[in-house]
Amino acid sequence: MAKIIIKNENELNGMRDAGRVAANIRMQLAKEIAPGVTTQELDLFARDLIDKAGARSAFINYQGPRGVPPYPGYTCISVNEEVVHGIPGDRKIRLGDIVSIDIGVIYRGFIGDNAMTVPVGVTDPKVLELIRVAEQSLMNAIEKAVEGNRLTDISHAVEQTVIPHGFGVVRDFVGHGVGRNMHEPPQIYNFGPPGRGPILKEGMTLAIEPMVNLGTHDVETLSDGWTVVTRDRKPSVHVEHTVAVHAGKAEILTLPEG
Ligand code: MF3
Ligand code: CO
Repeated sequence: MAKIIIKNENELNGMRDAGRVAANIRMQLAKEIAPGVTTQELDLFARDLIDKAGARSAFINYQGPRGVPPYPGYTCISVNEEVVHGIPGDRKIRLGDIVSIDIGVIYRGFIGDNAMTVPVGVTDPKVLELIRVAEQSLMNAIEKAVEGNRLTDISHAVEQTVIPHGFGVVRDFVGHGVGRNMHEPPQIYNFGPPGRGPILKEGMTLAIEPMVNLGTHDVETLSDGWTVVTRDRKPSVHVEHTVAVHAGKAEILTLPEG
């Protein structure tokens, strides 16, 4: 297994700056989500925010699997049954939708990666519960991202939070180490037994990103090569923070302002 990169204090400061930029853009973009707006319009709005912040999108032109064209958006915007990697286009947001926005930026050489799911006039209590549980699973997972714990303590915390509610935890996509590159080791599963994998150390920076489905955990990728949807086409929630491991308490790097 490839070694997890430890960041020194200078590098952690770079990660803090990139995380703050990514979080601010996430929050500003969230305010623009409304019925009638297309995901393409949201993406172009985000492009301008990223530009104004002096950053670059970490997603655009990202090389995916062989044979798949590079990622064409500045952000990923995934509506309802779309789980992750929704390509912005002419889909219009409608009342009752849930909209996941995933923002990854490169700022002064470091990556900040974060996502949230925004309900648009949602009244279905099950869907609101789905969002709440996914957010709680992320916070419970982050609590495990402390020195001395094992990597899969994070994974296990996500699954344990979700199971009592009967929702499905996506198994085919993972969180990841993050730093000067968007995807560093390790891969972070959102399920499985605790107490396995590498011991977490001060200075590791991780993108933790649960994907939680209202129905089963099964997903498939559409013919565009990117958009991941639930197999049962029921809604899915995606939330993500970039965090730094310390002794005692994890530091969330993708909180706005500060
Ligand atoms: N937050 C996602 C990830 O960590 C976004 C990647 S989209 C891509 O993988 F297009 F850049 F791949
Ligand atoms: Co990520």
